[in-house]
Amino acid sequence: MSVILRADNVSKKFVIGDGSVVNALSDINLEVESNRLVCLRGRSGSGKTTLINILGALDKPDGGSVFFGGRNITELGPAECDKLRRHEMAFVFQSVALISTMTAYENVEFALRLAGVPIKQRSARAKECLTRVGLEKRMYHRPGELSGGEQQRVAIARAVCHRPKIVFADEPTAALDTPTGLAVLKLFRDLVRDDDLTIVMTTHDETMMELADTVYALEDGKIASAVKNDITPSDGSQA
Ligand SMILES: Nc1ncnc2c1ncn2[C@@H]1O[C@H](COP(=O)(O)OP(=O)(O)O)[C@@H](O)[C@H]1O
Ligand SMILES: [Mg+2]
Repeated sequence: MSVILRADNVSKKFVIGDGSVVNALSDINLEVESNRLVCLRGRSGSGKTTLINILGALDKPDGGSVFFGGRNITELGPAECDKLRRHEMAFVFQSVALISTMTAYENVEFALRLAGVPIKQRSARAKECLTRVGLEKRMYHRPGELSGGEQQRVAIARAVCHRPKIVFADEPTAALDTPTGLAVLKLFRDLVRDDDLTIVMTTHDETMMELADTVYALEDGKIASAVKNDITPSDGSQA
């Protein structure tokens, strides 16, 4: 096993309107191994979004460092962060943010175009990814013609189509009912097992956490516990 992502003493403060300071994160230390599904849990306001944004190079900490593939990404400038995010990372959010006038296929094809994938490869890759998430029969539907769970699957296909190393998903199941959310989690497990991906996600839903390899609990911006579930043996094969 190898560590793909590490946070060393990460902290983040926000100064709000009246001048008071919110310590959103204090002294966060964590490690994410490759080919794992890692969950950040915690109630609203515990710092999950702030942390996942810093891990995914969308935001900078005030103190501490984040290492991705051995590289200190907190020292990178905006252009380098952008390149890193575009090529090696992917993001899935609670609100799906598909382009409503485009079909599922066109949404994924467009993402491949933005990622610089040559035109000849795009069609096959888009179809392959939509099939991968179980949408082979829904490819030519627009988002408005898909259920919430199906839309989230399109967003996942769009996120993984350029073959990132890591996916950051902030509350990807929060807008879904429990069975649909669990189906998304099972898809995440399959992607981690078969597609050489690492996934870091946030949730406040207990049932989702059971499917994660490691669950870090955040409380008031601090890591209160780290629990390893016995899901993936260390040789990488699935139990
Ligand atoms: N841009 C911001 N400005 C001021 N305070 C913020 C900002 N973003 C987050 N916070 C505060 O930081 C804390 C953690 O927020 P957040 O990371 O969004 O938590 P979670 O995602 O777990 O709900 C909260 O107290 C929140 O109000
Ligand atoms: Mg949040």
